[in-house]
Amino acid sequence: MIAPLASSAAKSSKSGFFVPRHVAIIMDGNGRWASARHLPRLAGHKKGADAVKKTVRAAAEMGIEVLTLYAFSSENWRRPASEVADLMGLLRLCLQQEMQNLKEKGICLKVIGDYTRLDQDLVSLLNKAIEITADNTRLTLVFALNYGAQDELVHVTRLIAKQACKGLLDPDNIDVSTIESFLYTRDLPPLDLVIRTSGEKRLSNFLLWQAAYAELLFIDTLWPDFDSETLKTAVEEYARRERRYGGL
Ligand code: IPE
Ligand code: IPE
Ligand code: MG
Repeated sequence: MIAPLASSAAKSSKSGFFVPRHVAIIMDGNGRWASARHLPRLAGHKKGADAVKKTVRAAAEMGIEVLTLYAFSSENWRRPASEVADLMGLLRLCLQQEMQNLKEKGICLKVIGDYTRLDQDLVSLLNKAIEITADNTRLTLVFALNYGAQDELVHVTRLIAKQACKGLLDPDNIDVSTIESFLYTRDLPPLDLVIRTSGEKRLSNFLLWQAAYAELLFIDTLWPDFDSETLKTAVEEYARRERRYGGL
């Protein structure tokens, strides 16, 4: 028997249109933005970091509850060491500059992915930011760092197997909700909308389980050009979609 799915109810925003509760973005195209201007890739990543700030502000103003941003995938370690170092340096700088601002603006920071594999000082900065913003409720900002959906499902499987070995869980009782209770996203509302910038039409190992019934939106805008207007247009497109979850 399949229970009817509880849809993530859209709610009316201050701006008058319906907004999704949980939006995730695959922020792609920083390198191409820079190449088009004959600039080093780092210039694209820097402009991309500005787009993150604008988008977080816009999401909070629009009444989105959760914004999940794919910042560094478990496959991005395959890039040249210098680019990985640039990305980590930028993350470090942004955390140092914005941590207090996040706290003051009512934004709660969470991280998904095995971020403990990042440099130790970055792990400490992230833990501090998570801790000082934990009680904020205006917007939950989720950074996907060293995140891979396949890794996440391996992690979940191990946890479930350990419980089963200890006799705490009967394998015959494992169901969708058991798996969801072990995902990194277990405390977040269901994923409503995934946006990928830069024209690529793939998920690149992002939230594969959670995207089962999310709406997908692929746009040509390169991430550094993304702003509050782009987000608004995406949310308006979402509001026009009809979600059926297999029903009628
Ligand atoms: C997204 O931009 C940033 C990360 C993946 C960290 P890219 O760096 O992938 O930019 P393109 O795809 O090369 O243009
Ligand atoms: C996906 O972008 C990862 C992030 C945005 C962090 P990539 O640029 O790494 O994806 P592929 O390699 O084009 O699939
Ligand atoms: Mg890319």
